[in-house]
Amino acid sequence: LLDSPLLAPVLAAWRGYAIVGGVVAGLGLAYAALAGTFSDTLTPAAVVDRQQGATVHAGFRRAHAKGLCVEGVFLGNGQLARYSTADLFTQRETPFVGRFSIGGSNPTAPDLKAGVRSLALDFRLANGERWRTAMNINPVLAVRDVDTFYEQLAALAPEPATGRPSAARLAAFFDAHPESRAFLAWQRQYQPTGSFATEAYHSVNAFLLTDGAGSEQAVRWAAVPMAVPSENVHADDDALQAELYERLAAGPVRFDLEFVLAAADDAVDDPSVPWPAERTRISAGTIEIRSASEQIGGACDVINFDPLVLPAGMSPSRDPILHARSAAYAESLRRRATEAALGRRQ
Ligand code: HEM
Repeated sequence: LLDSPLLAPVLAAWRGYAIVGGVVAGLGLAYAALAGTFSDTLTPAAVVDRQQGATVHAGFRRAHAKGLCVEGVFLGNGQLARYSTADLFTQRETPFVGRFSIGGSNPTAPDLKAGVRSLALDFRLANGERWRTAMNINPVLAVRDVDTFYEQLAALAPEPATGRPSAARLAAFFDAHPESRAFLAWQRQYQPTGSFATEAYHSVNAFLLTDGAGSEQAVRWAAVPMAVPSENVHADDDALQAELYERLAAGPVRFDLEFVLAAADDAVDDPSVPWPAERTRISAGTIEIRSASEQIGGACDVINFDPLVLPAGMSPSRDPILHARSAAYAESLRRRATEAALGRRQ
């Protein structure tokens, strides 16, 4: 059956996702193992059903559906090498493929109306390893476990009459979840800029760095913008994408990759709790974005930016949201890759 000429194009397309995503071979097993990180009643498929909403955009990511691909190099400065053995942190150039995106499941949503902007990166280390990170502009989440995240998705679902979430339902959700306070405080003071290049993007979840002697240090990280605001303000639906292309035509877009070191009593496994501002911050080097391209057919399209793809010298914390993300991203990839392979992208 696998040799059938009818299946050949489908298998070839799947293979593209498998090679670049590196996930398909082990997907069934990994999926089964990770499904256990959800509660007894909640599955990755149920979460992704809520994320994709009532209108399915076949072939697109079920979250952060609208975005564009970028490519560049990470210029390590050596300062993090004493905390992690990952060869990314030595003084070398590591190429990456990345993706800027906005939150939501609509691949044609207006850029400036989105509440979340994101940067995902897939670093290709010299020793063949990969490091994948998917970061958002918010430094913390409103929730600390997957069941509450699932409830939040229901509160955020648009009302059929208005196309917007119900303010009363959202207020009731936040009232019932005081752990959302730090997120809401961030949201109140956040001032969106007119550019993907002038936002800061956060890992939100914590990870562990391991040094050559086996000592562990819990960290979060952020891509901190080095670019200055542009004078060319765009207002159309693709404003952020247009601004980025324009900016890159004039030169690279740079971010400082900053690691924040947790102290002994910081909340490592809870993404709703900020760490004190005075924590030590170490720059690991510069993320230099040199080019951008359309996501369809672009190098980022087939990548699953699974936050658990880490090189030796980095490992996940026990934050349940982090582990749930991995399983949900795999479920989203399974859906979109199958649809794309069958030519059902729309
Ligand atoms: C339980 C919590 C979460 C769930 C279930 C979830 C789920 C998803 C899913 C299904 C995708 C699409 C994946 C794909 O098809 O490639 C996605 C994309 C993404 N998520 Fe999450 N997510 C969660 C939390 C987070 C957090 C905490 C962050 C940021 C720190 C984040 C950042 C992103 C980004 C940047 C993308 C787009 C990646 C890309 O460009 O392909 N997510 N998420």
